[in-house]
Amino acid sequence: MAITSVLATGGLGFIGSNFIRLLLSETGYNIINIDNLSYGSNLKNLDDLKDVPKYRFVKGDISDPDLMVRLVNESDAVVNFAAETHVDRSISDPLPFHRTNVGGVLTILEAIRKADRDVRLVQIGTDESYGDITHGSFAESDRLSPSSPYAASKASADLYVMAYRRTYGLNACITRCTNNYGPYQFPEKLIPKTIIRAKMGLKVPIYGTGKNVRDWIYVLDHCEGIKAVLEKGKPGEIYNISSGNELNNLTVVKMILRLLKLPESFIEFVDDRPGHDLRYSLDSRKIREELGWSPTNTFEKGISETVSWYLSNDKWWKPLSNEKTLHPAPWKLKW
Ligand SMILES: NC(=O)c1ccc[n+]([C@@H]2O[C@H](COP(=O)([O-])OP(=O)(O)OC[C@H]3O[C@@H](n4cnc5c(N)ncnc54)[C@H](O)[C@@H]3O)[C@@H](O)[C@H]2O)c1
Repeated sequence: MAITSVLATGGLGFIGSNFIRLLLSETGYNIINIDNLSYGSNLKNLDDLKDVPKYRFVKGDISDPDLMVRLVNESDAVVNFAAETHVDRSISDPLPFHRTNVGGVLTILEAIRKADRDVRLVQIGTDESYGDITHGSFAESDRLSPSSPYAASKASADLYVMAYRRTYGLNACITRCTNNYGPYQFPEKLIPKTIIRAKMGLKVPIYGTGKNVRDWIYVLDHCEGIKAVLEKGKPGEIYNISSGNELNNLTVVKMILRLLKLPESFIEFVDDRPGHDLRYSLDSRKIREELGWSPTNTFEKGISETVSWYLSNDKWWKPLSNEKTLHPAPWKLKW
């Protein structure tokens, strides 16, 4: 199946905007980006593409059935990035996570089911759906055991996608990736928050002991993995995407402070997030062996470039940074 028209949802967010820029820089794709401009989005993320003829932005919600039917009918494939994504917010207010991450995905699935031709779906999932693991790494066939409302909503979406594959034969793949970092990530997430707070002379919060381990992947490596699944993924398959950069939060924050030439006394330990998973780890041999994908950025290179990007782009993050987005314990807030 030749894919030339792609509907990217949530393309004004962190990963979606990097993915759209990558696709348009390398290939002959036409892209429609639908985003409801919620807080994680930023029109400035794709400012450079606004006059590119192969790119079109539509303001809208993935939970709008009529709009999704119309846009799906113009597309050969849907790559679904749109989601409520901040775990801390899901703890203080879970319902919006259910509406978009489950209800929105069901609306996309229905639009594809009703389309009169084959439309491929790549559903962007997360390692958080598996829950945490003390030793070893999760394979795609492992059970889902989400801990937070965010992870539960993402796991539910995956289950719907798998059911639509089985029942209606939908041409769908799922990717599950580890923690991303890189340019254009909203200031409330660990790495941008650390850089921005330290740059502003504020203490950098570490939840609990800081021993929680995440496997960090540079966002463009993730985007290359999604592109491989879009172009070569086998319908019905799930692909884990990971880099093998397992580091605990304290180590990551110390590395950032070193790059900023600031002392470790900037670190402040705060209460731990409820239900905080200790370690995530994925086995990504399947995408490497079957689709020929592998990451090209080491964490040392990626984090150094990311710190430099935030230092040179304060015009991008200053309007997004406030007491709430940079809060040391956001799950305690009312959003
Ligand atoms: N960031 C990570 O580390 C990571 C890791 C693995 C998987 N993921 C998944 O990747 C996807 C993108 O994550 P991100 O970090 O770019 O998130 P983000 O919060 O930066 O972007 C999400 C985008 O979706 C849009 N959106 C939200 N609800 C919408 C709706 N109802 N209709 C239309 N648009 C809507 C937002 O406006 C925003 O632009 C998500 O599905 C997330 O679960 C993220």
